Amino acid sequence: MADQDVHSPVVNEPPALPVLRWDEPPEGPVLVLLDQTRLPAEEVELVCTDVPALVRAIRSLAVRGAPLLGIAGGYGVALAAARGYDVVEAAGLLERARPTAVNLGYGVRRVATAYRAAAGKGAGPEEAAAAALAEARALHREDALASGRMAEYGTALLEELLPGRGYQLLTHCNTGALVSGGEGTAFAVALRVHRQGRLRRLWVDETRPLLQGARLTAYEAARSGMAYSLLTDSAAGSLFAAGEVDAVLIGADRIAADGSVANKVGSYPLAVLAKYHHVPFIVVAPTTTVDMNTAEGTSIIVEQRSGQEVTELTPPRAVSAGGGGGMVVAPLGAPAYNPAFDITPPELITAIVTEEGVISPVTGVGLAELCARSSQV
Ligand code: MRU
Repeated sequence: MADQDVHSPVVNEPPALPVLRWDEPPEGPVLVLLDQTRLPAEEVELVCTDVPALVRAIRSLAVRGAPLLGIAGGYGVALAAARGYDVVEAAGLLERARPTAVNLGYGVRRVATAYRAAAGKGAGPEEAAAAALAEARALHREDALASGRMAEYGTALLEELLPGRGYQLLTHCNTGALVSGGEGTAFAVALRVHRQGRLRRLWVDETRPLLQGARLTAYEAARSGMAYSLLTDSAAGSLFAAGEVDAVLIGADRIAADGSVANKVGSYPLAVLAKYHHVPFIVVAPTTTVDMNTAEGTSIIVEQRSGQEVTELTPPRAVSAGGGGGMVVAPLGAPAYNPAFDITPPELITAIVTEEGVISPVTGVGLAELCARSSQV
């Protein structure tokens, strides 16, 4: 595409999404979430007064996306501490709420460790709870900063790979402000490209079965004034064949030590398509998503969700209420396969963009060096 095709963007800077906040009404501290199962129809808050409520919110995907799960898990431990619940038990419940996104366990353990460290130094319950909250807030802030740095590295990488051009980018699932303390991971890169006036179009996979692309990414793209188009997941192949995709940008839920990436189911087929069509396939994720304790992709536990999410078109409210009540689209009792994530091997990934820099080619050694660098800061 020639330079003159790059148009000035219509950049709407909408108010920040009220994704997650700590509040202290007279009845006691609470964690307030934007209920993502109700978007885009309604912006409704979900108030969690205790850890079981937060666990339900995590399982139903009212709060979701790897970095935000880490932040929510951290605040969940702080909530347990502030309300005088058993912190060890609360941490266990939170960590087990969903298995794939490593950030959840990271956030929970980090805040639980801060609580224990304070208690170990003789702090009383209130002081230890304050230490836990301070740690959750620090994690929240760090994630916002990481998001900005990933956007910088990601746009620089696109310029390096596709110099002097405007881009048509394809994304899957939802990776914007709804999953982050900042503007997100992959979506934050697209947003920066848009602000530079270089985003020709964001192709948004609808992301069956729970439609994070259609419900959430399209919602965020529209709020930002981006040029975007929604497509069914299975339409991506013909889009590549038509030469309409310049790069794929996705997030990650867990990156194994060998560079394999777990992300929303449907990511792996996109990586195969990208390889065949010689299109860069770029993963954008903070270093908190890297799990050096999981040696390879095949060891990552992939969450299996209810088949009902496949056999029924579930309205968001029903998801929020625990599923069911959707429009039935399969014979009664039809068995269904519903993994929430899939694994993309490193050889299909052009680059992994983190807040500490870019790894390309993607190798275990490159990942280990980057993680060593990030733990020194
Ligand atoms: O099941 P979800 O909606 O929590 O899955 C989210 C994703 O797969 C995102 O792509 C991933 O968390 C990366 S967001 C930084």
